[in-house]
Amino acid sequence: MDKVNELIVGLQDRAYPIHIENGCLPKIGKDLARRQIANRYCIIADETVAALYGAIVLQSLQQNGVHAEILTFPPGEASKNLTLFAELCSELAQRGFDRKDGIIALGGGVTGDLAGFVAASYLRGVAFVQIPTTLLAQVDSSVGGKTGVDIPEGKNLVGAFYQPKAVYIDTNVLDTLSRDEFIGGMAEVIKYGIIRDAEFFQFLDDNRNGAINCDKEILKNIIRTCCQIKAEVVAKDEQEADLRRILNFGHTIGHAVEAVSEFSIIHGKAVAIGMVAAARIAVFKQLLSEKDFDRIYQILCDYDLPTEIPKDFDRNLIKKYLSTDKKIVSGKISYVLPNTIGDVVITSDVDDSIIEKVIS
Ligand code: NAD
Ligand code: GLY
Repeated sequence: MDKVNELIVGLQDRAYPIHIENGCLPKIGKDLARRQIANRYCIIADETVAALYGAIVLQSLQQNGVHAEILTFPPGEASKNLTLFAELCSELAQRGFDRKDGIIALGGGVTGDLAGFVAASYLRGVAFVQIPTTLLAQVDSSVGGKTGVDIPEGKNLVGAFYQPKAVYIDTNVLDTLSRDEFIGGMAEVIKYGIIRDAEFFQFLDDNRNGAINCDKEILKNIIRTCCQIKAEVVAKDEQEADLRRILNFGHTIGHAVEAVSEFSIIHGKAVAIGMVAAARIAVFKQLLSEKDFDRIYQILCDYDLPTEIPKDFDRNLIKKYLSTDKKIVSGKISYVLPNTIGDVVITSDVDDSIIEKVIS
């Protein structure tokens, strides 16, 4: 695979490549054979993705002399739980996977989080490769090593930081992704512009038609920029002591909305609602100008993303979920708030009265 398509997540002895290339899926076997990351692989994929792309990846490995097999699970957030985690670990043990073997997460963020947590835990850690197949996973969840599952008390409350050995991104797989999931992924894309890169925000504004119509060159540029920002942030603060918290922009209220919807609002769309809420808090706190708020609001509308918490959602339930957010420290919820396009601040100094107004 060509080095021009590669970015590196700079984590010293755990540094790893992100390979971004339209149509790279059938070439992954050759690259993995060359890298000698593991003796054999278990490809973990949800049933939908396994049916679409399992055989291509399996064949690509086998044709290059790498033994691999597939393990599937039902698609959807409901699978990201401790029961399925335990079942996957048992299945690996029954199939005789050992410490020199590896796991390939082929799929969206649910697969990456779940299979990544299995990789982090099985035999106290085996090698792990990410092949993200949703836009959200390609620009966010496959990079950075956050793995985990949900428990009834909240999303992602159990997990580990565990970095993959390589990430392979093929934009062609987005052709089969539903419109809804694609649009949801765009929310995380826009997030990067707001938190870190005003020029990228402008690019997204200028190239809305190309992006939304899945123009492959525009998408490749977009994915590369997002991965570059994420790689830079993760290299500076792998375990979210400080800087990495900016990536949670939109996720505090977003996660609460997602939970109250019982996951009928997909992650990316919930994050879009959460970003507008955070931007409103920033306006109330006089951190963000009305003009910049309007630009944030408008770009989300232009990309067909939702901006408001549905009227019929129980506000008390939203507050309850906010109070179990895993980003709470010493009882204070921290919020990532934009102060301009391209820069954010993190603060827990937000009056309850502002939250009341924003979620009302
Ligand atoms: P997902 O993995 O459930 O995928 C969405 C749906 O798309 C599924 O039904 C899947 O079968 C289908 N699908 C996937 N790829 C496809 C393709 N190419 N063609 C057709 N269908 C395809 O959801 P997601 O939106 O990718 O990820 C959401 C999850 O990611 C959440 O659990 C969220 O918490 C997590 N997340 C994790 C991080 C992190 O840093 N680890 C960051 C952001 C989000
Ligand atoms: N998606 C947030 C993070 O990876 O830190």
